[in-house]
Amino acid sequence: MCGIFAYLNHNVPRERRYILEVLFNGLRRLEYRGYDSAGICIDSSDLASVSEDQPRIPSNSPRAIVFRQEGNIEKLVKSVYEDVAATDLNLEELFPVHAAIAHTRWATHGEPAPRNSHPQSSGPGNEFLVVHNGVVTNYEVLKETLVRHGFTFESETDTEVIPKLAKFVFDKANEAGDDQGVTFAEVVIEVMRHLEGAYALIFKSRHYPNELIACKRGSPLILGVKELNEHVNSEPLYDPKFLSNPKTNEPKELFFSSDANAVVEHTKKVLVIEDDEVAHIKDGSVSILKFDHGKDKKSGSHSRPASVERAISVLEMEVEQINKGNYEHYMQKEIHEQPESLTTTMRGRLIRGGSCKAKSVLLGGLKDHLKTIRRSRRIVFIGCGTSYNAALAARPILEELSGMPVTMEVASDLLDRQGPIYREDTTVFVSQSGETADTLQALHYARENGALCVGITNTVSSAIARNTHCGVHINAGCEIGVASTKAYTSQIVVMAMLSLVIGGDTISNQARREAIIDGLFDLPNKVREVLKLDQEMKDLAKLLIAEQSLLMFGRGYNYATALEGALKVKEVALMHSEGILAGEMKHGPLALVDENLPIVVIATNDACFSKQQSVIQQLRARKGRLIVMCSKGEASLVSPGGSSRVIEVPLVEDCLQPVVNIVPLQLLAYHLTVLRGYNVDQPRNLAKSVTTQ
Ligand code: F6R
Repeated sequence: MCGIFAYLNHNVPRERRYILEVLFNGLRRLEYRGYDSAGICIDSSDLASVSEDQPRIPSNSPRAIVFRQEGNIEKLVKSVYEDVAATDLNLEELFPVHAAIAHTRWATHGEPAPRNSHPQSSGPGNEFLVVHNGVVTNYEVLKETLVRHGFTFESETDTEVIPKLAKFVFDKANEAGDDQGVTFAEVVIEVMRHLEGAYALIFKSRHYPNELIACKRGSPLILGVKELNEHVNSEPLYDPKFLSNPKTNEPKELFFSSDANAVVEHTKKVLVIEDDEVAHIKDGSVSILKFDHGKDKKSGSHSRPASVERAISVLEMEVEQINKGNYEHYMQKEIHEQPESLTTTMRGRLIRGGSCKAKSVLLGGLKDHLKTIRRSRRIVFIGCGTSYNAALAARPILEELSGMPVTMEVASDLLDRQGPIYREDTTVFVSQSGETADTLQALHYARENGALCVGITNTVSSAIARNTHCGVHINAGCEIGVASTKAYTSQIVVMAMLSLVIGGDTISNQARREAIIDGLFDLPNKVREVLKLDQEMKDLAKLLIAEQSLLMFGRGYNYATALEGALKVKEVALMHSEGILAGEMKHGPLALVDENLPIVVIATNDACFSKQQSVIQQLRARKGRLIVMCSKGEASLVSPGGSSRVIEVPLVEDCLQPVVNIVPLQLLAYHLTVLRGYNVDQPRNLAKSVTTQ
């Protein structure tokens, strides 16, 4: 969790106000990753006065000014400008080079409070400052050692050991009396060798003015490169293939960030930093070093870090994607853009067929592994939260078309049990962010056990996309609302297409395949139609606004809809809600039913319809307060004499029905949240990508 961001301008004079705004905007874009507290560090123009306790600080080193504030980014912005107004800090002051770092926090160790916010410091004088995304699992041992060496700690965070360890390493190296002095990269690499856990870090140090270092293991990190003369000189400053251009004095701006959202408004050119790499910005150039954790068996020492040449990637996203447009909230926008996101998910993958060509599906990312998948003993879907629910919605169609056993695993539970995964298995990892720690760990576990690993993610170059053997991008576009909506429907569609591809083209299933493909083509229109229920769902939300609890019953394809609808309601509207398998109703949940508790029953027309009708009857016999979702024109079948409130949705092919059915429930959760006065896009205690276990 947490978002980290850094900005460095080289030979392009920038005012302090501009630098602050770049940092604040960067943090605003990353805020979905955590909003418990935030902080920044900028340079002052006072140069170091070399003191006795900090004798090695260079005389051209500016003093670091740190601002930290509990709460979201806007609270930080307000407090920074208030502090600036109360001091003589000049916002118009120009800096030809300036290195600044920033952080937005989702609390893991220590309550949200300024002392636990980042940047965390090495101590008085801020010799080393660090912003961190991830968790250092061995921080207690490191802390004990550092305390024994005289360090005192101010926060309860795991992060604080990092800058202190950097100071310890730096002091030790200098005591050893190396004439050349230890480099910033050497300090950071030595620190990384001691850290266990997952992290992305950015370091700033008064010993290395105007330099920044970032490194990572397990948490995402990119570097954006904006070349200011790019449009004047036709020749790019960096070799488009490799980062190896010596023209370091050209004006440029560089941005480290946890993700592309915070960079795309400045530049689309990025370098993706890999695990165990250290990216060092110095004198306008960027160098990347890769290092080994282990020691060489023969010499007993660490091998020398190797210099890495990295291709520049060009981001495919547009700035508009990360703006709210005409909507009030990201969640609202993302619900309403589902017809478009589904179209993008399917673009180029569905073949219409023709006089001599059958309708078919193409998933390029799987083609080299299809035989292995078809020969495997079973398919195991693995994910968390909404992504798990999407896989659950797709499971029946994959079972039907492939004839293979398909099992479901919640990633954390698979790891807790160390459940059996075999080399004959195909494991499918479903994740919007592609960074979820539990899913990523489960992926490592499946790889260790020799299974084929397939990724289904929305984030190109994410850890899951990079570590799976093959996969499919869902291409739903950037999802910013913490509650996943459009990614869910696109995931189901991708898994329906996956089922068609794995199932193959046999005569016996041809009619079914064609019906599903036709249904996929028409799905964006059906979702457009169901979105017209917006006002109706708002009216329903008004009725439910003061309820304590809401149950949702589903079965078959729509068991997942019940789970996902309930997840949306609880996570954003902060109302207890539970998705229940309707077939289990008589085995316990029926005891909850009375005339007060509202219950949503999903009863659209499919093979389970008659069973759902009898569930409705049994609930009604107990005076249940029902809201029934049914297929258009079938209200009388589920609500004789208008006895219940009904939500009518368009009927589509059964395996695609969960895509349509979830939309009214997403709208309901959205309106409930707004009416109850909660923050839709930043639900309490949550953050979008859960990069800690
Ligand atoms: C709920 C939600 C979460 C995520 C879960 C997995 O709206 O968004 O339940 O689905 O944290 O995240 P990803 O899909 O990024 O692996």
